[in-house]
This record gives sequence, structure tokens and C-alpha cells, in this order.
Amino acid sequence: MTEAQNGECPPLLFFDTGVGGLSVLGETRHLLPKAPVIYAADYAGLPYGMKSEAELAARVPALLGRLVERYKPQLVTIACNTASTIALDHVRSALDIPVVGTVPAIKPASELTKTGVIGLLGTKATIRQPYVDRLAADFAADKMLLRHAAPELVYAAEAKLRGEQPDAGAIAAAMSGLVEQAGGAELDTVILACTHFPLLRDELAVAAGRPVQFIDGAKGIARRIAYLTGNRTWPDDEREGTFVTTGDIANIEPYRPAFARYGISRFEKL
Ligand code: DGL
Repeated sequence: MTEAQNGECPPLLFFDTGVGGLSVLGETRHLLPKAPVIYAADYAGLPYGMKSEAELAARVPALLGRLVERYKPQLVTIACNTASTIALDHVRSALDIPVVGTVPAIKPASELTKTGVIGLLGTKATIRQPYVDRLAADFAADKMLLRHAAPELVYAAEAKLRGEQPDAGAIAAAMSGLVEQAGGAELDTVILACTHFPLLRDELAVAAGRPVQFIDGAKGIARRIAYLTGNRTWPDDEREGTFVTTGDIANIEPYRPAFARYGISRFEKL
């Protein structure tokens, strides 16, 4: 049966280790509020930022292959910088549908900085990627790019979306990890190069203690998804999205109100 005959519109699939991809989904919902959504979280694999390149290059395409087989999405968004900077090419060659990645927003940051000093906060794995070196060489060669790994912010964002108080010490340490580097006093722009981190934007702004602009790729990714699905007719009604986890489904309970804010109300185990 064709898509038109059965009246179904294939979903957009978002993929992250946990709640980080919601920062990308949120911007996409602004542009495409009626797009059906599957949100997949590899909680069994969190944190990706502490895994090896080889492990992620094998794990991410295999999982996405299973997810695509189950949900038959029209497009996959890897809403995770760590997975994208390591496994984007592997995923693209394994799937025959469009795959959108999330990579550090070095180009826009480079255009916005006035002082020429840019910070990049990411996971341990992301900040060491050759992909990041290439973006820096192509778009920020005349800028100072200070990198800092802040894996603890992943847990702080997870806590916040469970309705808990995020760890203020971890948030302060992430900012001082940038500012205290040589040249850090001139820092005016910070790239949030992990999709969990925009969920802590307000807390990071307070911890910065001075005007700093925070940049992430979510708006650009949403525009890219809208462009790639431009010919699509969406359902008339807004459908509730589905969340699927590789982890223990019972652990999802405290996150339900947060997911509801992003239109997700069905929960499944992969
Ligand atoms: N949200 C993911 C990212 O953008 C990483 C979180 C993790 O370490 O699992 O990099």
C-alpha cells in the first residue's frame, strides 16, 4: 500500500542518548508543528561522550538501522554532537533515507564574535574529533577557539528535565573551564556543542557572570529538516509523539512532564 493510500505520513526520527535531542526537536516543532515524531534515546549507551570512536561508529548505525526498520521514518536527525561528529558518514552509508547531523556551530559563532575568542563546550569525545578540527580550520582559522569538555553538564541537563535542581557546581566549573584558559578573559561567544547543553542555557548565562552569547545548531538543523521535507503534506491534526528508549522504561517516569512539553506522550522500549 502506498503512503497516500493508507493515509499515513512517515515520522521524523530524532536520536540522542537522552533528553539532549529535545533541544533540536523543540526548534523543529516550531517550524513543523504537525510533523509526526519519534524520539529515540539510547539511555543504555549514555554517556556517548565517554565512549571510543570505534564503539560509537559501530553502535550508532546498528541502532539506527533497527529504529528505521521499526518506525519507517522519512528522515533521521542525529540530535547528538558526539554521535554526529563520529558516526554521521557510517549512518549515511547504512541508511537509504536522508540523515541530518548535529555538528558544533563553529561557523555562526565565528561570524558573531566581536573579540575573536570563542569557547566550545562539548563532551570529551566531541572536542577531540578531527571533524571539529576541520570546522575550526575552515571557519575560525583567524579566531581563538578554546575547547573544554564538560561531561557533567549531560547529567545536570538530565536532572533538570526530571524536575530536579541541576548541579550548580558543575555548571560553574564548565564556564570557568573556558574563561580560565589563556585568552579566556576576552571570550564573548560560547558554542554549546552537545545537545544537552542548550537545556541549561539560562544557568550557564548566570554562571558566566558577564555578557556572553551562547550558540547552538538547533535552529539551523530545524531549517534543514523543513527544507528536506518541503514537499511533504503533514497531517491536519497535531499527533502525539512517541518516545523509545534502549534503557529501562521505568526510569522514564520522572521525565514525563518534560516530554509532554515537547508533544511526546507515548513511551516504548526498543
Ligand atoms: N547529547 C549528546 C551530544 O550532543 C551527548 C551526551 C552523551 O555524552 O551521551 O553530544
